[in-house]
Amino acid sequence: MSKILVVEDEKSMRDLLAMVLRKEGYDVETVESATEATDVVTGGDPFDLVVSDISMPGLSGLDLLRHCSQTRPDTAVILMTAYGTKQTAIDALNEGAAYYIEKPFDIDEMRAVVRKTIEQKMLVVENLDLKSQNRDLRAELRGQYEFQGLIGRSPRMQSIFRLIERVAGTGSTIMISGESGTGKELIAKAVHYNSGRGERPFVSINCGALPDELLESELFGHMKGSFTGATANKKGLFQVANGGTIFLDEIGETSPAMQIKLLRVLQERTIRPVGGTEEIEVEVRVITATNQDLEQMVSDKQFREDLYYRINVIAIRMPALRQKPEDIPALAEHFLDKYRSLVGKPISEGLSKGALECLESYDWPGNVRQLENVIERAVALEAAEEIQPESLPPEVRRGQSRTEELDIVLREGGIDLEQHLEELRRHYMLTAMERCDGVQTRAAELLGMTFRSFRYFAKKYGMSGRDSQGDSGAERQTAQSTELVGEPD
Ligand SMILES: Nc1ncnc2c1ncn2[C@@H]1O[C@H](COP(=O)(O)OP(=O)(O)OP(=O)(O)O)[C@@H](O)[C@H]1O
Ligand SMILES: [Mg+2]
Repeated sequence: MSKILVVEDEKSMRDLLAMVLRKEGYDVETVESATEATDVVTGGDPFDLVVSDISMPGLSGLDLLRHCSQTRPDTAVILMTAYGTKQTAIDALNEGAAYYIEKPFDIDEMRAVVRKTIEQKMLVVENLDLKSQNRDLRAELRGQYEFQGLIGRSPRMQSIFRLIERVAGTGSTIMISGESGTGKELIAKAVHYNSGRGERPFVSINCGALPDELLESELFGHMKGSFTGATANKKGLFQVANGGTIFLDEIGETSPAMQIKLLRVLQERTIRPVGGTEEIEVEVRVITATNQDLEQMVSDKQFREDLYYRINVIAIRMPALRQKPEDIPALAEHFLDKYRSLVGKPISEGLSKGALECLESYDWPGNVRQLENVIERAVALEAAEEIQPESLPPEVRRGQSRTEELDIVLREGGIDLEQHLEELRRHYMLTAMERCDGVQTRAAELLGMTFRSFRYFAKKYGMSGRDSQGDSGAERQTAQSTELVGEPD
C-alpha cells in the first residue's frame, strides 16, 4: 500500500484530503505544518508521496519540498497553490515537485493527479529494480565463470581451472604454452595464489629480454667485484622467490649455455651466484611459459631434451581466443567494467548487439590482450551509452559487414553459391591485377594462387595482363584496360 503524507494547516481541507485518499486505498498520515512534516518524512519509513499546501505559517511548502529532495529524493511531492500564484507554481516545478495543483480544486482532479504520480513513481522503482536485478544476474554468472580474476566459461578454460585447483598445492613444475596474449602470466599467478605460497613472493622474469650474462646475474645473483659494475653483492631472483614461485617467461628464448644452468638448478635445487663459490639452497616453485613449440624445438635440437622433461612435468596449454569464442561476451563485459570505471564513463547500456556480433566473429590474432585493447579503445571513443560497432577498429568491424551481407542476400531469396564465389574470385583477381600493375605472376602470388590456375581463370574471365615484369608487347595492358576487358557491361 502506498504511503501518503498530507500537510495542510486548514483542518477542514486536511480532513477532506485524508478521507478522499484513504478511500482510494492509500495509507494516509496528516500533519498541520511543514515544520512538523520535515520530522515525519525523515523519521520513519519513507513516504511514497507528500501532498502539501504551499503557504503555511512557519516553513513553506517549498521549504518542505527542498528538504524532501535532499533527504528523501525518492519521495514525490505534490504542492497545492492558491489560485493565480503562477510564479510560485513554476518555482515548485523547478525545485522538483512532481505536480502542482491550484486551489480550489476538483476532488476528481486531485485523485487523478495522485494516482498518476504514484504510478510514475512505481514505474521508476520497477525500472531501477530490473536494472539492478540484471546487474546481480550478470555478476552471479560471472562469479561462476571466474577463477582468480580469469574469465572462462568455455569447457577448455573450465578444465584448466580444475587442473590448477588439483596441482596448485603440489609444488610441481608447470609449463604453460600458448600464443601471445592468451593469459599465460595470469594463469601462473592463479597457480601461485592457489598454492598455499600466496604469502610468499611471485617473481616474474622474461628470459628472452636479457643477454646471457645479465640473465644469469638476475636469476642467480652475483658477488661484489665479480664483473665490472658489480659494486655490491646482489641476491638472485631464485633467492628472492624463496618459498614462493618464480615465473620464467619465454623459456624457449634461452641460449644453450643458459639451458644447462637452469637444468642444474632444477635438478639440484641450489644456485650459485656469479663469482661465488658456495651453493645456496632454494625452495622455489618453477613455472615456465612459452609461445613457441618447444617439442618441435627439441626435435630440431634447439632446446635441450632433458630440460624440456624437467620443466614439462605438468603442461597447461592455453587455447587461442578464436578456439573459445563462447568466452568473448564475458571477457568483453569484464574489460568493459574495468575501463568504464577507469575512464569514468558509465556506458550504462554496455555492448550493443552489433558490436558484440563483430567481436564474436573476429578471429583475434592477438588473443585476449587484443580484445582488452579493443574494449579500452572503444570505451575511450564511445560517446553514447552503448558501445557501437563504429567504436571498434575497422579490422574487427569487417566481420560484421560480411555476416550482414550474407543476411541480406539470404533474406532476398538465397544465392547461387558457386556463382557468388566465381564473382568474388573475379573481383579479387581484378583488384590484385590493379595492385600489381597488371603483372599476373605477382597478382597470383598476392592471392596465394598458382600461376597456372591464375592464368586459367584470367582467360576464363577475359582478363589479360603481363606474365611477369619483363614481358612486353601485345600483352602489356594497364590495370584500367584490364578492368574494361573483364567487365563488358
Ligand atoms: N581469461 C582471462 N580473463 C581475464 N583477463 C585475461 C584472461 N586472459 C588474459 N587476460 C588479460 O589479457 C592480457 C594478456 O594476458 P597475459 O599477459 O597473461 O598473456 P600472455 O599469454 O602472458 O601473453 P604474452 O605471451 O604476450 O606474454 C592481460 O591483461 C590479462 O589480464
Ligand atoms: Mg606473458
